[in-house]
Amino acid sequence: MAYTVSKLTDYSAQALEKAASDCLRACSDEAAQVRTEAQLKAFRDRWMARKNGILTQINDQWLKGAPKDAKREAGIRVNELKTKIQGLVESAHVAGSGEALASETVDITLPGVRRPIGAEHPVMRTWREIVSVFQKLGYSVAEGPVVETDYYNFEALNFPPNHPARDTQDTLFIAGQQEKPQRERLLLRTHTSPVQIRTMEKMRPPIRIIIPGTVHRNDPPDASHSPMFHQIEGLAVDTNITFGDLKGTLDHAMKALFGSSVKTHFRPSFFPFTEPSAELYVTCFICGGSGKRGSDPCRPCKQTGWIEVLGCGMVDPNVFEFVKDNGYDPKKISGFAFGMGVDRLALLKYGVDDIQLFFQGDVRFLQQFG
Ligand code: PHE
Repeated sequence: MAYTVSKLTDYSAQALEKAASDCLRACSDEAAQVRTEAQLKAFRDRWMARKNGILTQINDQWLKGAPKDAKREAGIRVNELKTKIQGLVESAHVAGSGEALASETVDITLPGVRRPIGAEHPVMRTWREIVSVFQKLGYSVAEGPVVETDYYNFEALNFPPNHPARDTQDTLFIAGQQEKPQRERLLLRTHTSPVQIRTMEKMRPPIRIIIPGTVHRNDPPDASHSPMFHQIEGLAVDTNITFGDLKGTLDHAMKALFGSSVKTHFRPSFFPFTEPSAELYVTCFICGGSGKRGSDPCRPCKQTGWIEVLGCGMVDPNVFEFVKDNGYDPKKISGFAFGMGVDRLALLKYGVDDIQLFFQGDVRFLQQFG
């Protein structure tokens, strides 16, 4: 039964004593029942509310109703009782909250929990190393969108519509684009070369840029293919840029990346956007160019002693035609471009034999690079 204030008829010392102790016990029992903040508030209001709270009722009924000769004694008692009840109400708290706080204390003198510092991903490390080699040569970094239009990925790079060279790119197209003119259709860029055009549209020559980025091709995943991988593109345009500049720049870059004893070797190739085009080979840094590891054949270079690392060439004048109005008159300027696969270089650099390991997020693999 909830406590209620009843009228006092007997104002003897014992009666006052009993009434006061009944009231106190009730208050302290109620305080112990408080479990929530809402209950705590209700409890406070019930006892302390100025209007009709229990203390007010006691004041009204016990004190004001006291006969004249008992007033003094009753006044002292009621004041004592008020002080005690106020104390109980003030110290009341949500049960358990005090204990929770106690258990949450922290010993700040204990040593902290050491969190292991992660390792930079080998692909990102290679990416950064390559970019930094070219930054030291004065190249600045440019980037472009991964979802690209047909125009930038193909047309402006001198892949005419329906040209068979498009087939070599195993393109992943964005669905539902058939309504648009071909050059506006969206696809996942198959190389970082579209950023050559995007940058030349924005910046007048001379330019030297390095373009890292993610690219996609419709290749089933295996030890050397991934539908998503990374490329780093380079482009230098100025007056009188020659194939000699291309060779010197890339020879320097390969020595900076793989060590000064590495030799480079260019073989003719074809890309629609460079003419002439070449593939760059470096001496195999596993076997040092011998094609053998002890008496075993060297696998990474297929016993040739050479490893293909990138495609390159002199920018085709047809490409400059697309940005001619921004200062790229093929009669006045020339340039070279190159593009390399970051993941492939990371595989070679770190002696990893399966590109899938780079993208599976297996901590046991990644920890080796810590
Ligand atoms: N974009 C080409 C590729 O992905 C590489 C390349 C870049 C070749 C620049 C020449 C010049 O295969």
